[in-house]
Amino acid sequence: MKKIEAVFRPERLDLVKQRLEAIGIRGMTLTQVMGCGRQKGETGVYRGQEYAITLRTKVKLELAVADGEVESVVQAIIEAARTGNVGDGKIFVLPIEEAVRIRTGERGAIAL
Ligand SMILES: Nc1ncnc2c1ncn2[C@@H]1O[C@H](COP(=O)(O)OP(=O)(O)OP(=O)(O)O)[C@@H](O)[C@H]1O
Ligand SMILES: [Mg+2]
Repeated sequence: MKKIEAVFRPERLDLVKQRLEAIGIRGMTLTQVMGCGRQKGETGVYRGQEYAITLRTKVKLELAVADGEVESVVQAIIEAARTGNVGDGKIFVLPIEEAVRIRTGERGAIAL
């Protein structure tokens, strides 16, 4: 099992959700976040180290998926979230040790 954390532009959320639904993804968690990347929140031409950090509104989508689903999920998010401009976002893939469905007590990939 892997956890996929994707941070991207809020205006791309509907398209990302559509694409994930189309490949059979159900469970997900969404958080509104503030963040910046290597331009430190600057949206135009990078103007150097002397500028302070600006945090921009993004969304963070978290999904727990089976190992075999990782590539299709990552690809779907890239295709839906990419504009080609700086600030499009980032995807992190992390290992998951355990998953438990609270209602039934099921554990592991069957609980996803
Ligand atoms: N190293 C990081 N760790 C945690 N969050 C990050 C990291 N890099 C980016 N993010 C998150 O992703 C959002 C978008 O980052 P962004 O797309 O600007 O990354 P970038 O590395 O600057 O790439 P680009 O050059 O395409 O802009 C940030 O606002 C932040 O929330
Ligand atoms: Mg950036």
